[in-house]
Amino acid sequence: MAPRTLLTAGITGVGMSFPEKRLTNADLEKIVDTNDEWIVERTGIKERRIAEKGVGSSFHGAKAAQAAMEHAGIKAEDVDLIIVPTVTPDMLFPATACLIQEIIGAKNAWGYDLEGACSGFLFALQNARAQVEAGHAKKVLVIGTEVMSSILDWTDRNSCILFGDGAGAVVVEAVDESRGGIIDALNHIDGIGGKFLNMKAGGSLMPASAETVAQNLHTVYQAGRDVYKYAVKGMSGITKEIVDKNNFTAQDVDLFVPHQANIRIIEAAQRRVGLEDSQVAITIDQFGNTTAASIPSALAVAHRDGRLKEGSLVVLCAFGAGFTWGSCIMRWTAP
Ligand code: COA
Repeated sequence: MAPRTLLTAGITGVGMSFPEKRLTNADLEKIVDTNDEWIVERTGIKERRIAEKGVGSSFHGAKAAQAAMEHAGIKAEDVDLIIVPTVTPDMLFPATACLIQEIIGAKNAWGYDLEGACSGFLFALQNARAQVEAGHAKKVLVIGTEVMSSILDWTDRNSCILFGDGAGAVVVEAVDESRGGIIDALNHIDGIGGKFLNMKAGGSLMPASAETVAQNLHTVYQAGRDVYKYAVKGMSGITKEIVDKNNFTAQDVDLFVPHQANIRIIEAAQRRVGLEDSQVAITIDQFGNTTAASIPSALAVAHRDGRLKEGSLVVLCAFGAGFTWGSCIMRWTAP
């Protein structure tokens, strides 16, 4: 039997799609007892996008995927795997991956959804990488897409100000080893986090009923202060770890693209690694926390703004519900 050789996976295209409608902090002041100064100071968010009623995650997910395929120069029929990290699928089943496959016409692809909350994109990217490097898939779409507005309690000022809707997608393919591609990834979960950040109803444990609706249990519950502490530790630690483990220094990093949950968490991670502001991608001011969509859409923004070049050393990191957290380091390989 011929020896199996591992290929090298890299990102070859990025895309994003956001709803037109902007919800500013001033708009939120009319909904809950809050103010622009508090939100900007505590989170860094100025506005977020909100999907129209009747628009599910598949809509912007498909648009982001189409943009990523165009960037990579591939056709929908070329895609053989679609992975959709999301906490807001159109429906509990079928998978949003199936719905997106139909919309974009990726008739040769199989696929599935993945639930890793705010770390979902990194977990899905690692899956895509494994499939490509093992030779099981040639062209993989990883599509982080969310309609967070559909699961927010719009009477809870602690949580409704934080999130936004949108999608980001990447194409993952085998690249020539000399180009670098994805170098390393670290991923973790710790079930201790379940009690601090969750949506209690709508699953098998607590199916939808008149009571669950009356008690607002189909919305995000977050113990913000607790999550904040774990998030700072998790994101800072795992970012530093992946840079050190791969024998790079802060100066080597061309772009740090963290999950966009809170500007203060990002700054803590940035300080721990020793990165300058110019090395960090920030989109939270425009889009808020878009959960699984935040990293791929931030990559798409960075690409649009000319901040990613062939060979750029890019570090990604995330922390989210579960708890889940992870990081990834790569050489940029998209045109
Ligand atoms: N507007 C005005 N005041 C608000 C408010 C709002 N939207 N939300 C909360 N407050 C008030 C609180 O009621 C509290 O008032 P009190 O002191 O009178 O009780 C005060 O502001 C401070 O609240 P606290 O929760 O301690 O604020 P914080 O500095 O921890 O910031 C978060 C709150 C949610 C922004 C912050 O905890 C956070 O970002 N947590 C992690 C979020 C995260 O990363 N989540 C997901 C990972 S994906």
